[in-house]
Amino acid sequence: MKRGLFITFEGADGSGKTTQLNNVKMFLEEKGYSVIVTREPGALDIGQKIRDILLHHKGVVADRCEMFLFLADRAQHVETYIKPALEQGKIVLCDRHTDSTIAYQGYGRGQDISLLKELNKIAVKGLKPDLTLLYDVSTETAQQRVGSEKDRMESAGIDFHRKVRNGYIELQKEEPNRIKLINANNSIETVFEDTKDIIIKLLQEK
Ligand code: TYD
Repeated sequence: MKRGLFITFEGADGSGKTTQLNNVKMFLEEKGYSVIVTREPGALDIGQKIRDILLHHKGVVADRCEMFLFLADRAQHVETYIKPALEQGKIVLCDRHTDSTIAYQGYGRGQDISLLKELNKIAVKGLKPDLTLLYDVSTETAQQRVGSEKDRMESAGIDFHRKVRNGYIELQKEEPNRIKLINANNSIETVFEDTKDIIIKLLQEK
């Protein structure tokens, strides 16, 4: 059987990527594709526990502890869920993946970027997204959309989130074929039209 397609959704907290992911799911299902939706961190049982620490732990979480927890979640997720689904020919839509670690732990927290890229490779064992949609929005707009109920990562401050946004833009420049930039300052409808154009192109190529 032909391997499925792996599409990741990236961007700031408050970029609207999850809404777009759900729209893409409906769009693909209407076309008859078999689609699964998943996320990092915390898709499955071990991941849920890791997610709880990452987003809600009240005490100090050392930067490198945070980094390894995101990577541990990813290793489990790829091995037990994403790869089997792709082998069954499914389209996997994943809310955040490797680029989040580079943007948040690398550009945001200041961990060594080439080291993170190596660790990501270990976590995913050769898996690479066929397409990554990067929803870019001004940091101010993103923060307003998140509102006042912030989790541990969302509470990291505006300077941190500016660095994350710039990090994503750097990544897009490095890999323009895989990572497609979408202006997420626009309305949900416009952003979805832009998203659909890219997805349709991918389906034609594959
Ligand atoms: P989540 O509630 O899933 O946020 P969102 O809806 O914006 O995706 O929280 C995930 C948080 O974890 C988010 O702030 C981004 C962060 N994160 C990292 O810092 N590194 C990573 O590798 C991943 C996957 C997420």
